[in-house]
Amino acid sequence: MILPIVAYGHPTLKKVGVDIEADYPELQTLIENMWETMYAAAGVGLAAPQVNKSIRLFVIDASPFAEEHPVTKDFKKVFINAHIVEEQGEAWTMGEGCLSLPGMNEEVTRKPSITIRYLDEDFEPYEETFDGILARIIQHEYDHINGILYVDRLPSLKRVLLKGKLRDISEGKVDVDYRMTFPRTRKKVR
Ligand code: NI
Repeated sequence: MILPIVAYGHPTLKKVGVDIEADYPELQTLIENMWETMYAAAGVGLAAPQVNKSIRLFVIDASPFAEEHPVTKDFKKVFINAHIVEEQGEAWTMGEGCLSLPGMNEEVTRKPSITIRYLDEDFEPYEETFDGILARIIQHEYDHINGILYVDRLPSLKRVLLKGKLRDISEGKVDVDYRMTFPRTRKKVR
């Protein structure tokens, strides 16, 4: 089932997600629905807060980047209760978009290497290090489960310049071809 994605300004996007237990109600269904929702919106990642759940869960399928970045080819993973242990290296900048911020893409600066602890969909634990574009995608989704959006990481002058655009998004004044909930209109589009 395709779930509505909440737009910028929705309170759940600002909340820190909580860790979950293996008996979290209908977890496998939620994960299936998140995959379906992400693919329907042509995203490479989706975090639970974007479907209005304040829990530490996100999914990533980085394969659309495979032509340019072969390392993403078979990268399809579920991250539960993720916690970044370490971020390292010389910060670098890359354009990022977000399904909760349709029509926007901004240059975001992040460190290039992360070590992260997480559980997969079977609650098997991992501690792994990721670099480059994979680290970047994980950091973006990880921010979501900590109540952070990429626009929060932009220089303050840049944020001022984007204020009108962000207000339009929260009011639903934006072209989008997937299902969304806009906080300021309480209206579901599509
Ligand atoms: Ni996002």
